[in-house]
Amino acid sequence: MKNRPRRLRKNAIIRNLVAETRLNKEMFIYPYFVVKGENVKHEIEAMPGVYHFSIDMLLKEVEEVLKLGLNKILLFGVGEDKSEDGHTSHDHNSIVAEAVRALKANFADQIYIITDICLCAYTTHGHCGVIEQDYVQNDVTLHILAKMALTHAEAGADMVAPSDMMDGRVSEIRDLLDENGYSNTGLMSYSIKYASSYYGPFREAANSSPQKGDRKSYQMDFRGVGDALREAKLDEEEGADILMVKPALAYLDIIRALKENTHLPVACYNVSGEYSMVKNAAKAGLINEEGLVMENMYAFARAGADIIITYHARDIVEKGWL
Ligand code: PBG
Ligand code: ZN
Repeated sequence: MKNRPRRLRKNAIIRNLVAETRLNKEMFIYPYFVVKGENVKHEIEAMPGVYHFSIDMLLKEVEEVLKLGLNKILLFGVGEDKSEDGHTSHDHNSIVAEAVRALKANFADQIYIITDICLCAYTTHGHCGVIEQDYVQNDVTLHILAKMALTHAEAGADMVAPSDMMDGRVSEIRDLLDENGYSNTGLMSYSIKYASSYYGPFREAANSSPQKGDRKSYQMDFRGVGDALREAKLDEEEGADILMVKPALAYLDIIRALKENTHLPVACYNVSGEYSMVKNAAKAGLINEEGLVMENMYAFARAGADIIITYHARDIVEKGWL
């Protein structure tokens, strides 16, 4: 037999030599949930190994992950006062703005901070935009989102990441940032964001479940591919710097399709439900956690993701899984 593919699988050295997909810790973005108060590091029940941090504790945590070589974080604010229009989202003293200022005061440009831009954790009804006539209103919401992004930029955020799925929000945010002198603040768009049951644990973590109805009138229908590429193209035209696909695991085909249709960096978000399923299966002794996590990470990279947002990031670098 001339052809024996197994020759290239003989031992780890040769397998590593010919490995077609490579991962490194530069590719990871690590999400954090920040709450008010002091001395809070409280594990989120639905997401084992993920915590609510008060700012003082977040500073300690970030000092540790910086030492591990993780230096890109995605921040979510939790527990802010809620209102019909979610205006606390753009309060100068919002928990996210305070956290950004504290992190930058301590770590300056050692840390790259991305903030999530959406209203669902700030509205009484839990939807990602303002509701009028029983409908999540697009255009009224845009300005509030842009103000939220500006507040974060003013606090020192390096990049903002709108996750709301309102039409036109990328250009609205880009314009307001530029008008105020923040033309170097980056924008990673949750471009292709499906209405997904995989966000369940996150909504507990962020206390952001819709009180009524679902998000299907703004998040995407998971039966679509053309719709995904259309959304991505619009965001690219509106000035997004990075395009994201979310969720990741059930959407590897979409990551691949996007990679083949853009020259922008492609990110994927390995979301809360994907994370919690793996964690709980590992806890139950059903699977090998390291094996499964790394298989998933390589799948994202193989599909075409340049950037992976994952709650597993700390385990991966700290436990030497790379
Ligand atoms: C807010 C937002 C959500 C996630 C990121 N930003 C939840 C949602 O849209 O319902 C999900 C993240 C995750 O599940 O890990 N719009
Ligand atoms: Zn939202």
